[in-house]
Amino acid sequence: MGTYAVTGSASGMGAQAAQRLRAAGHRVIGVDLKDAEVIADLSTPSGRAAAAAAVLDQCDGRLDGAVLAAGVGPLPGVAQCRLIFEVNYFGVVELARAWRPALAATGRAKVVVVGSNSTTTTPLVPRRAIRALLADNVDKAFGAVRVFGPLAPSLAYAASKIALSRWARRQAVTPQWAGAGIRLNVLAPGAIRTPLLEKQLATPREAKAINAFPVPVGGFGDPGHLGEWIAFMLSDYADFLCGSVIFVDGGSDAYLRPDDWPRRVPARALPRYAVKFLAFRRRR
Ligand code: NAI
Repeated sequence: MGTYAVTGSASGMGAQAAQRLRAAGHRVIGVDLKDAEVIADLSTPSGRAAAAAAVLDQCDGRLDGAVLAAGVGPLPGVAQCRLIFEVNYFGVVELARAWRPALAATGRAKVVVVGSNSTTTTPLVPRRAIRALLADNVDKAFGAVRVFGPLAPSLAYAASKIALSRWARRQAVTPQWAGAGIRLNVLAPGAIRTPLLEKQLATPREAKAINAFPVPVGGFGDPGHLGEWIAFMLSDYADFLCGSVIFVDGGSDAYLRPDDWPRRVPARALPRYAVKFLAFRRRR
């Protein structure tokens, strides 16, 4: 049986994933603000460093997998934007980086990062915020979204999840991750009935926006079902899954962006392709 680190293990999808892992006989080292093996605040650099170290200590430097589900939603207030960046982006990336050697140590670890379908369905997300996060610059990312006033939290939320998904896809295929036997993938849920969504639904303006959002299958997703998806993405069946973003969103992304993806390779991308092919041949 394996050892898994799960952030956000006290609630919602993280709790569902932890429950399934435990039921299958695995050991779970949960990380959360409360009710977890490791109590830590992922919104600060020192909290993240302490959480990363505590998990490495408890797992003796060997992890069979990790679920990075801790996150906060786009609640009103410009101040929320910084919290969103700190928890949703740095709270994933810094822990994943710190745990990578422990994941590599077991030879076939799986990592599931919880993204969001806000990545492809939120208009006007400033590119500058995404670029700033990928460059580890939270101040610049905050500056890029704060000017949007009441829209800022939603844009910050989507920016945090876009940056996170790109970070994961960039890393997943490298010798340090795929080459070390680690499978790193992203789960992108739509609106799932968890305490995070309930908090949003308790704000009238948010509730109106959420209820007006097109979901072809109707309603909200079940956190238990998402727990199953995570468990599947951690299983041996996911050995060939690498750098993928899996949308489980009731069809919103397909409804709003049916022709944007998959996308044909344009002629102008050919030089970049050639460089990538050559670089990969040299790698082997
Ligand atoms: P949730 O609120 O039920 O669980 C999130 C967990 O993260 C909580 O246990 C919370 O204590 C923990 N957390 C928050 N801030 C933290 C901090 N500073 N330090 C340590 N732990 C912290 O929410 P849910 O819905 O299960 O969310 C899980 C992930 O799924 C999040 O990353 C969220 O952005 C994402 N997501 C959720 C959707 C939804 O509709 N519920 C839709 C798309 C993505």
